[in-house]
Amino acid sequence: MMIVSTLDELRTARLLLDGVVGLAPTMGYLHEGHLSLARRAKAECRAVVVSIFVNPAQFGPNEDLSKYPRDLDRDLRLLESAGVDLVWTPTPEVMYPPGFQTWVEVEEMARPLEGAMRPGHFRGVTTIVAKLFNAVQPGRAYFGQKDAQQAAVIRQMARDLDFPIEIIVCPIIREADGLAMSSRNIYLDAEQRKAATILYRALSAAKDEFEKGERKAGILRQIIKEIIASEPLARMQYVSCSDYDTLQELEKVTGKTLLSTAVFIGKTRLIDNFVLE
Ligand code: PAJ
Repeated sequence: MMIVSTLDELRTARLLLDGVVGLAPTMGYLHEGHLSLARRAKAECRAVVVSIFVNPAQFGPNEDLSKYPRDLDRDLRLLESAGVDLVWTPTPEVMYPPGFQTWVEVEEMARPLEGAMRPGHFRGVTTIVAKLFNAVQPGRAYFGQKDAQQAAVIRQMARDLDFPIEIIVCPIIREADGLAMSSRNIYLDAEQRKAATILYRALSAAKDEFEKGERKAGILRQIIKEIIASEPLARMQYVSCSDYDTLQELEKVTGKTLLSTAVFIGKTRLIDNFVLE
């Protein structure tokens, strides 16, 4: 496995990879969710590149940039055993050299939900992902359904900017009790960790009602809100029932639909979602 940090090293290493290259961008502190992207890329592409970069531009001033968990040695061991060919670990100076002033911003799609709660977040995400795409030139890029809006925003960006890259969205990998895997779960103490299953339980209850025939989006949102409100350690930020493609809030579920929620457990912000088909 090749491991590089500068742009020159990345370009030299990239020349050694032929055939379709798959890229899985990450911020490190890897878990099975990240590894599922690398393994899927391994199965579908001739070579796999994983980037590890905690991107300062996508963190708000009051978010967890400085304490975001890191363990590069462990990450590299996991990627090696997943059969990854090339790992790129750029520094902030490589990605944002002094004088940097060009940003990539998706409009409509980036406004609701995470975009409304985290101003500037998607501008940071799309800018870094565009830079990773330009440097790595993958044929396919792998993202997780865990960050449903991020995947939608990146698909939109790739379409609008003519990136010749197939965007592949992989299913959410969960812990045995339903909690979606996240690097941020490490922040939870034992009591909070138990409370954190409330996102999964609330979304599951709404999905059950949908499967029994409920089509009113307001009722599905209400079910999720009430269950989250029943958990004293949880503070709900939003609950959404939106069109899967446009992310517009719905009155009635007719086509492919995204149920999503963001919840604070103590100071830790967790997100989760289910897709209704
Ligand atoms: P990060 O949070 O490290 O996630 C990297 C990728 O792993 C994302 O595509 C995310 O959706 C996916 N992922 C995370 N948890 C998952 C889970 N439980 N199941 C399946 N996939 C999961 O998302 C980012 O980093 C950054 O915004 C990035 C795209 C790297 C740009 O900086």
